[in-house]
Amino acid sequence: MSGKKRVAVLISGRGSNMTALIEAAKAPDYPAEIVGVFSNRAAAPGLETARAEGIDTANLAQSSFESRLDFENALTGILEGWAVDYVCLAGFMRILTSEFTNRWLGKAINIHPSLLPAYKGLDTHARAISDGALEAGCTVHFVTPGLDEGPAILQARVPIKPGDTAETLAARVLVEEHKLYPEALRLLASGEATYQG
Ligand code: GRF
Repeated sequence: MSGKKRVAVLISGRGSNMTALIEAAKAPDYPAEIVGVFSNRAAAPGLETARAEGIDTANLAQSSFESRLDFENALTGILEGWAVDYVCLAGFMRILTSEFTNRWLGKAINIHPSLLPAYKGLDTHARAISDGALEAGCTVHFVTPGLDEGPAILQARVPIKPGDTAETLAARVLVEEHKLYPEALRLLASGEATYQG
């Protein structure tokens, strides 16, 4: 028995944050292991990365289900099959129902590329630049029914520089995401961060 908490990562695409979590979890003293990776898109490049690491993967398209709830019930079945303690959303591009988020309340976390509560939703970097903001960043937060609204666990800040585009800013923020997410999961899995409802 390793004593490590069992974690699933939910992705929809590239999976660079997933990779950062997988790499961090290789450390013997890291309190969590990544036991499964789920994608709602079969073509998500991150699935191949996870398989190459010997991690179980699964994918289901919501379009093959009658309803969002049916899709999420199937997803919960997969997560329960992996016996996960925690769920990390990492670029998972599906809005989840309150049935799902309440089932995993305090157990599911997400990374968002802004200094929440600023810039919830999509196109965060472009919006921050066009507002003339001087600072951007990323937030790891608990997943609750409201989109990008759950309590924050950690944030990291970066400057917005003159001439930044959404792409240059996203790249600067992503460097911080890859450090922040493993640290936030470490806090959660070790019991140092807990959901206060
Ligand atoms: C990241 O910027 C994350 O903050 C956002 O979606 C992006 C996913 O990138 N939610 P990746 O798939 O982890 O590379």
